[in-house]
Amino acid sequence: MNILLTGAAGQLGNELQPLLSARGSVTATDRITPARPMPGWVEMDICDAGRLENLLNRLQPELIVNAAAFTAVDQAETASETAFEVNAALPERLAFWAKRNDANLIHYSTDYIFDGDATRPYRETDEPNPQNVYGASKLAGERAIETSGCRYATLRTSWVYSSHGKNFVLSMLELARRGLSLNVVDDQRGCPTWARNLALASDGVIENWQQTKTRDIGGIYHYCDDQTLSWYDFAHAVFRHAVNAGLLDKEPDLSPIPSSEFPQPAVRPKWSVLDTQRIGEVFKISPASFNQSLQAVIGEIAARA
Ligand SMILES: NC(=O)c1ccc[n+]([C@@H]2O[C@H](COP(=O)([O-])OP(=O)(O)OC[C@H]3O[C@@H](n4cnc5c(N)ncnc54)[C@H](OP(=O)(O)O)[C@@H]3O)[C@@H](O)[C@H]2O)c1
Repeated sequence: MNILLTGAAGQLGNELQPLLSARGSVTATDRITPARPMPGWVEMDICDAGRLENLLNRLQPELIVNAAAFTAVDQAETASETAFEVNAALPERLAFWAKRNDANLIHYSTDYIFDGDATRPYRETDEPNPQNVYGASKLAGERAIETSGCRYATLRTSWVYSSHGKNFVLSMLELARRGLSLNVVDDQRGCPTWARNLALASDGVIENWQQTKTRDIGGIYHYCDDQTLSWYDFAHAVFRHAVNAGLLDKEPDLSPIPSSEFPQPAVRPKWSVLDTQRIGEVFKISPASFNQSLQAVIGEIAARA
């Protein structure tokens, strides 16, 4: 199977590379080439529509995995054109190519398409109502894929972290290393998700498509790891594991604050919890343990330190 992986240098793309390589011949692409790229790496601006079309026509992938995204939530407020180009126009182009060429598409979206006013975990059928530009651009991408009529699975996820890239875990560790006292928001709740677990969930969908040959169990699915936390709880867990792993001598002073004391350009939903029942029923994929995942990520960071 020929596979095109976009956003291959990002948190998720990096975790997808070995899994996809075990399933077929992967061409990985991103804006930059990492220090140790996989064979056949293509460095390009994935929003260059002409180059993308040429690449797709040359490779003829049977599977496209789109991990490229504009994920800088605050920057998106002032760079909305770029956010919509990457998060909406790109998936639309991929989806229409997939439709014309009988390929499958795996795409990713976000809890931030919801407004956060729910009182139970969000289901795939709940009405989106994004409160920021990033969420609106991701929702536009989802809708473009649906409209294309291609075979697809869009996995919505939340609060992604890994030992690599830009994320909350690495930011918290950096602040703690500087010996700062930290105030962390305690009134936004969500489910932190290790990029590797999202990659494994994607691989589970692909395996199911390969085994059943129906490949028609498409649509939108929610995947996140198994615990609901506030950012403050998450920070606490990061520091506890970091002390255990010998990355920090002691936990920093940490205080909970309301979002109102930490103004950010983009409004965040207060409740970002996704219901993962559907992916369990259809693909037998269950949420992974948050605690084990965070411990593993901190272990990877400690091993590099
Ligand atoms: N991160 C989260 O907390 C989170 C939460 C919910 C959902 N998601 C979704 O999960 C998916 C994976 O997220 P992630 O955290 O792995 O994102 P990420 O680490 O930001 O990776 C995205 C990759 O796409 C690349 N990219 C962006 N624009 C590009 C362009 N024009 N040309 C080529 N490459 C480009 C980025 O490069 P640059 O870094 O150079 O731009 C980056 O390497 C995304 O669909 C995201 O929306 C993420």
